[in-house]
Amino acid sequence: MSSTPIKVAVTGAAGQIGYSLLFRIASGDLFGPHTPVELRLLEIAPALPALEGVVMELLDGAFPLLDSVQIGDNPEKVFDGVNAALLVGARPRGPGMERRDLLEANGAIFSAQGKALNNGAAEDLRVVVTGNPANTNALIALSNAPDIPASRFTALTRLDHNRALAQLAAKLHCPVRELNRMTIWGNHSASQYPDIFSARRGEQSISDLIDDQHWLEQEFIPTVANRGAAIIAARGSSSAASAASATIDHLRDWVLGTPNQDWVSMAVPSDGSYGVAEGIVSSFPCTAQDGEYRIVPDLELNDFSRARIDASVSELLEEREAVTQLGFLG
Ligand code: NAD
Ligand code: LMR
Repeated sequence: MSSTPIKVAVTGAAGQIGYSLLFRIASGDLFGPHTPVELRLLEIAPALPALEGVVMELLDGAFPLLDSVQIGDNPEKVFDGVNAALLVGARPRGPGMERRDLLEANGAIFSAQGKALNNGAAEDLRVVVTGNPANTNALIALSNAPDIPASRFTALTRLDHNRALAQLAAKLHCPVRELNRMTIWGNHSASQYPDIFSARRGEQSISDLIDDQHWLEQEFIPTVANRGAAIIAARGSSSAASAASATIDHLRDWVLGTPNQDWVSMAVPSDGSYGVAEGIVSSFPCTAQDGEYRIVPDLELNDFSRARIDASVSELLEEREAVTQLGFLG
């Protein structure tokens, strides 16, 4: 067993996603069964008493890999020396709140957290933003952390990726493990584009197995893109265990590597690949090795895919424009 624990910050730790996420991290699902962890949990002050209860439960789990747990409401203190930051806490949309109000409330949170990470996180810091609007929150955080490479800030589209795999497996009556090379492009929003044109079942192309444009446009894409809303309608609150699981998948694969012959979807700062405007945090197919991710190069995009990607990227550009006007891009 490695003796040096990894310091992992989780924000919004008393929330629904936190309640699944923390126990998975403590049990070794994130960094493997030989790596101890120190948890640093950030909450807003009114939620600290509830967080203390969650910490009691974490201790009661007697997890052999859990070295320590610290909690607080000051990001500068909580993020000091952290190697990984899972930014889950965010301001939800309240009654009467417009999109601009939501961007404004979250802009304040993620610019302060970006600055705090810049001031005190470890050199090998890796960040995944789950809190919505996740892509633009990641953009705000990275632009307020000028001393940290922008590539270390990513946002979660792995849940959309997993949802797409599940829908495809149901259509093909096969287990998810037989499927590979699924891609989510763009924003974690209803404009996202789940792309099956490079996907395969074993060595077989999915487009050869399913030649059904009506299913693709009228069933598959809307089901994946609107799954979050369907879960809210059914549960009365948003996806939590699946979001926690996808957050683990995202960071684990980034740090420990993606499987051979496959890739995952990650929202990362665009380097201009596939004509996506440089700098925005957009979802791409990515592989990872030795702790570094890489956008999968040279995929062929048909006109249908091109139009869908461009539409989601336009939404991200609008979000960037809105937060620029609000003064959040440092
Ligand atoms: P929740 O409301 O149960 O918990 C959020 C927690 O964040 C609360 O405890 C709140 O006190 C805390 N918080 C708010 N502001 C904070 C701040 N400045 N610092 C630290 N903590 C703060 O919500 P949840 O269900 O856990 O979801 C969290 C976020 O994840 C939401 O924005 C949700 O929309 C988003 N989400 C994203 C995905 C995705 O795939 N990207 C999926 C599901 C949910
Ligand atoms: C999800 O995809 O489940 C969430 O992003 C939905 C939401 O609005 O919290």
